[in-house]
Amino acid sequence: MSSPPGIDTPAASGSPATVPDAAALAAELAAAGRLAPDWADAWARVDRAAFVPDRVRVPAPDGYHRLDRADDPARWHALVHTDTALITQVEDGTHAPEFSLRPTSSASMPRMVAAMLAHLDVREGHRVLEIGTGVGITAALLATRLGDDAVVSIELDPRVAADARGALHRAGHHPHLLIGDGTCGSVEHAPYDRVLSTFSVHTIPPAWVAQSRPGGRIVTPWGSALYNGVLLALDIDTDTTGPRACGRVVGDAAFMWERGQGVRGGVMDTVRDQDPGTPGTTTLDARLLVDDRDATFCTGLFAPGVRRSIGRPPDATREGGGEFTLWLVDAQSRSWACVDHTPGGTVFESAVHGPRPILAEVEAALAWWGAHGRPERTRFGLTATASGQTAWLDDPSNPLPATHSDMCP
Ligand SMILES: C[S@@+](CC[C@H](N)C(=O)[O-])C[C@H]1O[C@@H](n2cnc3c(N)ncnc32)[C@H](O)[C@@H]1O
Repeated sequence: MSSPPGIDTPAASGSPATVPDAAALAAELAAAGRLAPDWADAWARVDRAAFVPDRVRVPAPDGYHRLDRADDPARWHALVHTDTALITQVEDGTHAPEFSLRPTSSASMPRMVAAMLAHLDVREGHRVLEIGTGVGITAALLATRLGDDAVVSIELDPRVAADARGALHRAGHHPHLLIGDGTCGSVEHAPYDRVLSTFSVHTIPPAWVAQSRPGGRIVTPWGSALYNGVLLALDIDTDTTGPRACGRVVGDAAFMWERGQGVRGGVMDTVRDQDPGTPGTTTLDARLLVDDRDATFCTGLFAPGVRRSIGRPPDATREGGGEFTLWLVDAQSRSWACVDHTPGGTVFESAVHGPRPILAEVEAALAWWGAHGRPERTRFGLTATASGQTAWLDDPSNPLPATHSDMCP
């Protein structure tokens, strides 16, 4: 199948130069080994430029840089056709100070979309529910592969949904587009062979499990307040109590949160300067929650809702390996803990505040992780049913011990 033509723009010399197009992006993904062969044709046919708005924000080390197509069309085209996530909405579309921007919609990073679609393992004849339409690119890829009628896509934000609908229709795609809370799925179009979420969740919505066919699959980013996140691929079966989704962590996936499950406000908003907390000591090696992804992921499972912040002396470098303070905060119970880390130390000064024993929870989590041989995050998995979810190590028969959130709903 032929790919769309390249986009010609005047080069500095005045002669035409071809800037990247959909085929170039597909080739980049394939060359990097990130494109499953059965998706190559769809990627070469779905032009990201037809979906990305003129004004975007581009992730940068110091935040998000604005990019307006009218100011620099060549750069806009180049970024749209490279493996880059583009932020298309911040702070739910409301006006917010530039320093506190929280992305709320995007054109996801192509390599992540490609990975999620590969794990989805779609076959001809499958009906797919995509949740989080965003700009509509993933819906277009699915519709190109499976046909319009096989794809249902739900977006919560009406303005985002309207833009996606317009772009999809202009590009010749007419999947079922719904506006609403995707955590409820859509009973009307169920059952689904595949469910794909393009936002991160703490808990698998029971509707996704209930509306899936036996033999179906759910692929979703999943995370904790400490670690956002990993990608889960869950297979659907049915036991005596009803449908069940069960599967493993298959990779990393840092996505924006489902709008109802994200935590608002800065981590340190909960820590009041005038409250010194109750001093103590700990043997907790705070570096593990700075440097070690597996330790941080596992701790996030044991201490749900806990966020972290790292405070360094003004003259410290990020890589310096010097002293720092680890803050662990639970905004809901207004509890916090801090640990002053000193290189080479074994016992560290700490302070705690509030009703939730955050430091004890995190110490217990890291002790468990160490006692189980420091498992990598891909050794973990999840079983989700209508009545809740259970994380496990290696095998569903090996569930993690109860956590704070299990005990305090
Ligand atoms: C990462 S963006 C989607 C990217 C998009 N699928 C693509 O093709 O590039 C996540 C989207 O999920 C939407 N969203 C967040 N919570 C939602 C919910 N509960 N139901 C439906 N959509 C939701 C956001 O508004 C946002 O547009």
